[in-house]
Amino acid sequence: MQSLEGRHALVTGGATGIGLAITKSLRSAGARVTIASRNIERVKAVAAELDGVTGVQLDVTDAADISAVFEQAVPVDILVNNAGIAHAAAFEKTSLEQWSNIMAVNLTGVFLCTQAVLASMRERNEGRIINIASTAGLKGAPYISAYAASKHGLIGMTQSLALEFATTGITANCVCPGFTDTQMVDDAVTNITTTTGRSGDEALAKLVQYNPQKRLITPEEVADTVLWLCQDSSRSITGQSIVIGGGEIT
Ligand code: NAI
Repeated sequence: MQSLEGRHALVTGGATGIGLAITKSLRSAGARVTIASRNIERVKAVAAELDGVTGVQLDVTDAADISAVFEQAVPVDILVNNAGIAHAAAFEKTSLEQWSNIMAVNLTGVFLCTQAVLASMRERNEGRIINIASTAGLKGAPYISAYAASKHGLIGMTQSLALEFATTGITANCVCPGFTDTQMVDDAVTNITTTTGRSGDEALAKLVQYNPQKRLITPEEVADTVLWLCQDSSRSITGQSIVIGGGEIT
């Protein structure tokens, strides 16, 4: 893989799960990485452990917070919009508040963070915008209507953005993992056990069933694809939704 020495990457939600694997992978490739996330203690702890990684507190639902953080952080060569939340509920039981929260983080947050880096990317005629969507951005499933809507929206936004910037050196893509071994899956298992009375193993088996390879994706597999998208040789890959799902989407 090409060295990313001299590049600055910003990863939202980069102190846990998939975001942390991406942070480590980009740093290993030589990029300077800023982690921007809500939980400042966690962000600081990760930044203290990893040389070349700095951490800032950011709530991606707060437009003023985003302006302040990105004013300091730019220029950003690689923006990874990874911060996300999930909430499983039957469509009829999904409240407006739950719907709005998911949209605010998973969709509007990405819109705002992306707007905040584009001027600096345009100036340098170079940039990578990588949005962590989901296989739920490409198909529906029961009990995740808000989450699926947010991720479908993210894919549509990314496709449009890619075309607007196609004649520049800026690319925009989505990476779409299936169920991945992080806190988000642990929370989903807890939710299933609480609402259905199934055991933890049964709940996990239910999620694993979605993947034809019958396993959870690892965060590192997602990070590898992000790293690939950052290569100069990936400059023709734009507007894509790259599925990491063991054949879940064919
Ligand atoms: P996670 O729960 O470990 O990571 C989510 C991160 O987003 C956390 O660091 C959290 O602090 C941050 N975050 C949440 N709300 C925020 C806000 N308002 N402002 C700033 N940061 C905020 O879970 P995971 O799995 O690592 O999720 C990362 C991304 O991957 C999410 O976008 C998720 O939708 C996506 N994804 C996860 C899958 C899974 O099965 N774990 C499958 C497909 C996609």
